Amino acid sequence: MLDPVAHNRTAWDRQVELGNEWTVPVSPDVVARARQGDWSVVLIGYVPVPRDWFPEPLAGTDVLCLASGGGQQAPVLAAAGARVTVLDNSPGQLGQDELVAEREGLALRTVLGDMRDLSAFADASFDLIFNPVSNLFCPDLAPVWPECFRVLRPGGRLLVGFVNPDVYIFDADALDRGELVVRHALPYADLTHLDEQERERLCGPEHPLEYSHTMTEQIGGQLAAGFVLTGFMEGPHHWDVTARYLPGYFSTRAVKPL
Ligand SMILES: C[S@@+](CC[C@H](N)C(=O)[O-])C[C@H]1O[C@@H](n2cnc3c(N)ncnc32)[C@H](O)[C@@H]1O
Repeated sequence: MLDPVAHNRTAWDRQVELGNEWTVPVSPDVVARARQGDWSVVLIGYVPVPRDWFPEPLAGTDVLCLASGGGQQAPVLAAAGARVTVLDNSPGQLGQDELVAEREGLALRTVLGDMRDLSAFADASFDLIFNPVSNLFCPDLAPVWPECFRVLRPGGRLLVGFVNPDVYIFDADALDRGELVVRHALPYADLTHLDEQERERLCGPEHPLEYSHTMTEQIGGQLAAGFVLTGFMEGPHHWDVTARYLPGYFSTRAVKPL
């Protein structure tokens, strides 16, 4: 029986070796500018997060970068003065954050784990959770939002990027040819919608397994956990042909009420 989280750990470690763009650490220049207050990070594709989605001042706040390894957002937020912890399921991805932290003399805590289980953290221990597009790799979101709510302080913010589930109705091979062929009923999962042969071809050991989830799981789940939504944005998929027709990503800003 395949363990999907173990599969995705190995797959993301392999993506680091392959140089996937979401695993490439930021340069010294980006860190130097962040130290001067000139910084920006992404939750979805290449769209910068509005600065007013962050606490002001950011310096001195406790930030959890959730499923956000790769040496990208975490070192930037640390260089901007936040006390940053990164939790990620891939040792390779966390290694990229450690590499930047060491290279730049940044304090950064890394924790290996599954985003559904934040038991490594005490109640009310963060001011901000930053969760860029990654929950497509998580089998079940139901535990994620209550855990985020628990570890945030009252008034704390949860920033989430996620894939528009509608992009999963299309056949993957056709998308690679630039064609939109409707094939799958939602909610989609590689594990349930592909037969073994196709899954082996499309989701070999270096390909993380994906889940479309639903808007009810994404937004309904945050609201059910007690969050109040205070911001919403959409953006194009960063590379596939769906970007011509529909938003590929959504992002939300939610607050834990005081
Ligand atoms: C696309 S990368 C995101 C990181 C990147 N810095 C970014 O800008 O989006 C997705 C990340 O989610 C992590 N991940 C996947 N499943 C996870 C899980 N169940 N729990 C924690 N992290 C997970 C992967 O290891 C990977 O680092």
